[in-house]
Amino acid sequence: LRLIRHTRRLTIRPLRLSDYRAWARAHRARRPARNPWDHGPLPEKQLSRAAFAKRVRRQRRGITKDRCYHLAIFDRRTGEHLGAIDFLIYFRDCVQWANLGYHIHNHRWGNGYAREAARAGLNIAFRELRLQRVEAGIDPPNRASLAVARALRMRREGVRKAFLYSGGRWRDLVIFATTAPGAPRPEMGLRR
Ligand SMILES: CC(C)(COP(=O)(O)OP(=O)(O)OC[C@H]1O[C@@H](n2cnc3c(N)ncnc32)[C@H](O)[C@@H]1OP(=O)(O)O)[C@@H](O)C(=O)NCCC(=O)NCCS
Repeated sequence: LRLIRHTRRLTIRPLRLSDYRAWARAHRARRPARNPWDHGPLPEKQLSRAAFAKRVRRQRRGITKDRCYHLAIFDRRTGEHLGAIDFLIYFRDCVQWANLGYHIHNHRWGNGYAREAARAGLNIAFRELRLQRVEAGIDPPNRASLAVARALRMRREGVRKAFLYSGGRWRDLVIFATTAPGAPRPEMGLRR
């Protein structure tokens, strides 16, 4: 699996242990949360090298078990860590279906990074992960996230009621989706 892509400004790839400094520096630079979907700086305890190593191992497990593909976003020129996208596999078999998530450190919002990284991520999703359907399930008032999905030309398919358990309740999500380009692939090509 080739889980790395370079775009004009960015590199996206799984985190490595050697990313610790860049990752911790970026997290420390975060401002306090700017909206309900943002996370401010992580508590210092979670920024230790040991906590980072655990995170990297967990993310690697997610990949080897084909459960979740976390891809960190870096500035290609400076190596700055900018955020991450992820593909959470919902179901393989005859649907090949995943959710796309994205976040950018809040001191770097508004530079087109989410759009650029997610576009490259979709290339990985269809070519490497062999997904058929990628959705972005979005909390309806999250305007920035809706704007990213639109910028990716995902289509709004509707509202999935009481789909996500978060913050102590089941939430409705607006579903944006995109499906694999090109002709249907033979079943042989499907994963698991
Ligand atoms: C959503 C998020 C990833 C956007 O990151 P970003 O790098 O600032 O987004 P981009 O600069 O790539 O913007 C992409 C598009 O969204 C628009 N946009 C970005 N933030 C916006 C906002 N607050 N309000 C309206 N539009 C916004 C941009 O103008 C751009 O549109 P365009 O291509 O038509 O110009 C970022 O705000 C974030 O991390 N939020 C917290 C986590 C989160 O909400 N994740 C999504 C969970 S579903």
